[in-house]
Amino acid sequence: MDVIEKNKLRMSELAADNPQLAEQVDALDWNELKTAVDECIFNKEETGLPETYGPASYFPLQPENSEQEVLFAEAVEHGEGIVRAGKTAAFTVAGGQGTRLGYDGPKGTLGVSPVKGKPLFQLFAEQILGISEKYEVVIPWYVMCSPLNLEATVSHFEEREFYGLGKDNLKFFAQGVMPATDFEGNLLLANKDSLALSPNGHGGSLKALIDSGSVADMAERGIEHVSYFQVDNPLVSVINPLLIGLHDLQRSDMSSRSLTKTGPFEKLGNFVSVGDRVAIIEYSDLPEEKALEKDEAGRIKYRAGSPAIHVLRRDFIEQFASGEIKLPYHRAEKKVACLNEAGETEAPEEPNAVKFETFVFDALPLAKNPLILEADRLEEFSPVKNRTGVDSLESSQADQVKRAKRWLANAGHAVKEDTIVEICPRAFPSDKDLLGANLEKYDLEADSIYLG
Ligand code: UTP
Repeated sequence: MDVIEKNKLRMSELAADNPQLAEQVDALDWNELKTAVDECIFNKEETGLPETYGPASYFPLQPENSEQEVLFAEAVEHGEGIVRAGKTAAFTVAGGQGTRLGYDGPKGTLGVSPVKGKPLFQLFAEQILGISEKYEVVIPWYVMCSPLNLEATVSHFEEREFYGLGKDNLKFFAQGVMPATDFEGNLLLANKDSLALSPNGHGGSLKALIDSGSVADMAERGIEHVSYFQVDNPLVSVINPLLIGLHDLQRSDMSSRSLTKTGPFEKLGNFVSVGDRVAIIEYSDLPEEKALEKDEAGRIKYRAGSPAIHVLRRDFIEQFASGEIKLPYHRAEKKVACLNEAGETEAPEEPNAVKFETFVFDALPLAKNPLILEADRLEEFSPVKNRTGVDSLESSQADQVKRAKRWLANAGHAVKEDTIVEICPRAFPSDKDLLGANLEKYDLEADSIYLG
């Protein structure tokens, strides 16, 4: 008997006189579990690396020749036209469990801005409002949560009156879950009434956008492009006309921002080219000799890293509806509290479980005409992932201040070195919106400045 059949038998026995568990077991997609267990447990040695690949080419941050200069100018205009015509939506994936941060609540509700302590969700909402006002258009915002944090997320927005975006222009939905198993593929129970379930990864967002009716809602609204970003990056440009313009001009299904890696082993996914397609190889999977390769100019060849910022065509997402094209599962070995033999829930000290997750970047190889546009790290990326150190609240706040000062300096305003500055994204959604703005009402000599 294979492990799936064994699981079915065991679960039907346990669920026989336990309606709560029975409900979960009935809802289980056994075929999906079999796929996940086959991919991540029985064939886990298969790396999934493409047979041949090379570094992906990308558009540089600044145009490098006159042809690019013309293209970028055209793309900005084209992208702005698309935004103004109401064809873009913002999409945040906020279903993660944020275990590294250890914050008790949905991550988007964490206060992160340096002066006002605004939550991540507020910063995105204000940026969306600012862009909507600038282009005189409604930009609907779709927020993917998990079954574990949906209610708390919706309450957060209700209490804050949807940050002024209008309830109808915001849609919250839960992504799917997958059961965790032990290293042999046996299902784990979180307690006697429940399987150990966890969100199925940000790759679950494509199916969840369809199943929740969000894609249909987008179609009704005339949305053609979906701007995808993660909940933990307060610097993200939620709707970027240059990226959207290039993406549409090139008829790309899925476009991405890249960051130039700080070194060969920086922990960012690596963009690679595979024929006429693009893929991401995780930092842990890129062979060392490849990571160290240099080009003729002495630069790291595989230097385009992914900050997980994408634009997807709505009709590309729709292709995931039938279930015929699917994203592969990745294996994550985690510590999962579960029932021990004495029937008590026990938190393990070492990883004891396999969680099955799909990743949105695995949609890239399926995308036609993929395009990558370099981003400036200081402008666009400083995620809050960890409690301390790299990619923490502290480092992100410092980066927010650095960027605000840079924007001020570019607009011709110098402030003291140790001044803390925060810029409201509604008042000034981008650096360009600060150029020539009248800042007389602000005390730019103060130790702490809030422009908003
Ligand atoms: P991370 O990989 O950083 O995971 O997610 P996480 O759950 O937030 O944090 P850790 O690893 O437990 O500490 C990157 C982005 O993908 C979203 C997260 O909310 C974050 O925006 N995500 C992740 C989902 O929406 N669903 C998932 O199942 C996993």
